Amino acid sequence: MKVLVTGGLGYIGSHTVVELIANNYEVVIIDNLSNSEIFILDNIEKITGVRPIFYNINLLDSQGLEEVFNSHKIDGIIHFAAFKSVSESVKNPFKYYNNNLNSLMNVLNFMNNKNIKNIVFSSSCTVYGQPDKLPVSEAEPFKKATNPYAKTKQISEGMLEDFINFNDRVRGISLRYFNPVGAHDSALIGELPKGIPDNLVPYITQTAVGIREELSVFGKDYNTHDGTAIRDYIHVEDLAKAHLKAFNFLNDSEDKNNYEFFNVGTGIGYSVLDVINSFENINNLKLNFFFKDRRDGDIEEIYSDVKKSKKVLKWKSERSLDDMMSSAWRWQKNLANF
Ligand code: WQD
Repeated sequence: MKVLVTGGLGYIGSHTVVELIANNYEVVIIDNLSNSEIFILDNIEKITGVRPIFYNINLLDSQGLEEVFNSHKIDGIIHFAAFKSVSESVKNPFKYYNNNLNSLMNVLNFMNNKNIKNIVFSSSCTVYGQPDKLPVSEAEPFKKATNPYAKTKQISEGMLEDFINFNDRVRGISLRYFNPVGAHDSALIGELPKGIPDNLVPYITQTAVGIREELSVFGKDYNTHDGTAIRDYIHVEDLAKAHLKAFNFLNDSEDKNNYEFFNVGTGIGYSVLDVINSFENINNLKLNFFFKDRRDGDIEEIYSDVKKSKKVLKWKSERSLDDMMSSAWRWQKNLANF
């Protein structure tokens, strides 16, 4: 089976490519390197012994895409390629709408024209906003998005659902990630934020390694066990395995024309301080952090109801918070070698 992975050199994409190759899929990667580095391709080869076919193409370049689809018989697509910074999307919303929506539009057009049946789409728990009930299940309706990034994910899921309802040969799944963290056990691939990290864990590891002076903890007055905000952190290797389960489900599914969506989290909520404590204990170091005001756009608490993924995809997370923190630290230290 030949799978096209858009954004396949990115954080989640690269870990999913490793899983696909380990399960004997042939992988074609399209990535414009806007949020990744070419050495990740070398390291995927080091991990798997296979160098995936790679095209440095922007998904808005229909001509470039035409070349890829004419050169390969693609059995399915896993679509990661999108901008994903919440704070950047607030500052530059139309960069997000243009890239995230038009890229997906192009992918769907080629699926239609080239008769490709299966797609797994990279969505996000931000589609829920601040849920009224926790754990949040897939039955929860979308609330008003708190930022343009989240809105592009809500609109994208709607586009995918309508496309599948229109084209009765296609099957698709949206995976709603909670908070992906950590790195591959080899410490050869991991999170590679460009510039100052938005996200908590890369900021923690950059503080620990001395790139950043100190970590700001945004908010100590939330209505939680220790006053800091709660998220459902999931090991990126667990998340990669969920994509394989989703892709196999589409291939095997009897129902020839369905759109499904699944939460991909651990079902456990951890606070910012829980994460910091895990990082310090498992890596035997002390972090320099200070409490600051809440960050605009942040929600107080979210964690996943995991029943549907377990029942339908036969997938559940296996890695602990300590695993996530030790793998993140190993990767940060190893980055000095690339
Ligand atoms: C987590 C917690 C911050 C940085 C976003 C996207 C989501 C997904 C993951 C793509 C919050 C706190 C953070 C820092 C801090 N991305 N924090 N100091 O905002 O939950 O989710 O990234 O799929 O879609 O919305 O993740 O890591 O930015 O924040 O205290 O320097 O850590 O306030 O409570 P977030 P995050």
